[in-house]
Amino acid sequence: MKLKIDDVRSRFQKHFDGSTGSVYASPGRINLIGEHTDYNGGFVFPGAVEQGIIAELKPNGTRKVRAYAIDLKDYVEFSLDDETGPSASHFRYIFGVCREMMKLGIPVEGFNTAFAGDVPLGAGMSSSAALESCFAFALNDLFGENKIDKMTLAKVGQATEHNYIGVNCGIMDQFASVFGKKGSLIRLDCRSLQYKYFPFEPEGYKLVLVNSCVKHELASSAYNQRRQSCENVVAAMKKHWPEVESLRDADYDMLNAVKEEITDEEYLRAKYVIDEKYRVMEVSVALEEGDYETVGKKMFQTHHGLSKEYEVSCPELDFLNEVAKNCGVTGSRVMGGGFGGCTINLVSQDLYDNFIKTVKSSYKEKFGKEPIVIDVVIGDGSRKLC
Ligand code: GLA
Repeated sequence: MKLKIDDVRSRFQKHFDGSTGSVYASPGRINLIGEHTDYNGGFVFPGAVEQGIIAELKPNGTRKVRAYAIDLKDYVEFSLDDETGPSASHFRYIFGVCREMMKLGIPVEGFNTAFAGDVPLGAGMSSSAALESCFAFALNDLFGENKIDKMTLAKVGQATEHNYIGVNCGIMDQFASVFGKKGSLIRLDCRSLQYKYFPFEPEGYKLVLVNSCVKHELASSAYNQRRQSCENVVAAMKKHWPEVESLRDADYDMLNAVKEEITDEEYLRAKYVIDEKYRVMEVSVALEEGDYETVGKKMFQTHHGLSKEYEVSCPELDFLNEVAKNCGVTGSRVMGGGFGGCTINLVSQDLYDNFIKTVKSSYKEKFGKEPIVIDVVIGDGSRKLC
């Protein structure tokens, strides 16, 4: 993590009474493939990144949380017994995590905290999941004797999004933040929650993110609408096949059988999800064989589906994808929820310099600003630093 403990510690001491507390870190994430599949019971392929959140916490002997957001120079105090909580979203995540941990029976007490992060906001790299996971992990350690298992900590973050932020997200982001492992991607079955680590050191290739700097707004309801479309298709299928729980259980024949009962838009959304389900499995096999050309082809297919069928791309991301294709990049696609943020690119090392140069200059020429290039280093998940 580029962000240092001392950056947080010095602010914590300055802001509070000069004493020190315990320091925790949780990362953001990338996702190689498997987009918008998590809430459909499908598979995802994320990994944690080096960038993340660092938070220092110290119990203060009251029922109040006193929280200082270092980057935003913003401070709030809220009571753990309050029903509504603070309105600023960076503090609502913390409030939500406290309340969800209390629901699990963890005797959370008041604490002072200062936190900072280096995950770019709104870039599709899950800065919010990093914050949630960091506090869930910290509260479990400080007040819960680490009794809560890691998967439940991830679910605490997800429940925070659902109940306090209004985003009906899946489990991928919080899972990746909690379970990340240096050098490995993780394939997660979002239905059974079984997962497998895949060491990812593709010789001769680099993974790089290109941030369009278009800030996405997941809460702006488009994300929830996508999820709703998928649920509508499942409801139509259930009439014929009561055993269908999610699009994970669907195939193309079933989708075509309900075509007249759903809208054209819903048909395309569901088709994308079914395609993506098969793509993740194909990528798993390709990775095991070290066949990165196939991995890359699938990434391009995912982009096409996300752009034309699931409709979560935007002109800037489509442009970045096109430039990657023209530069001979192995694979490229919009990453995360979409509507802005980054593309993830698998680039062979000999093409890397040219790709970066071209993507920066052509994007600037077209949109008047340079995209930000972020080399991906796969790092560890939630942990205590000291
Ligand atoms: C966001 C959500 C995740 C997942 C992705 C799309 O990051 O938080 O749960 O649905 O979008 O794959």
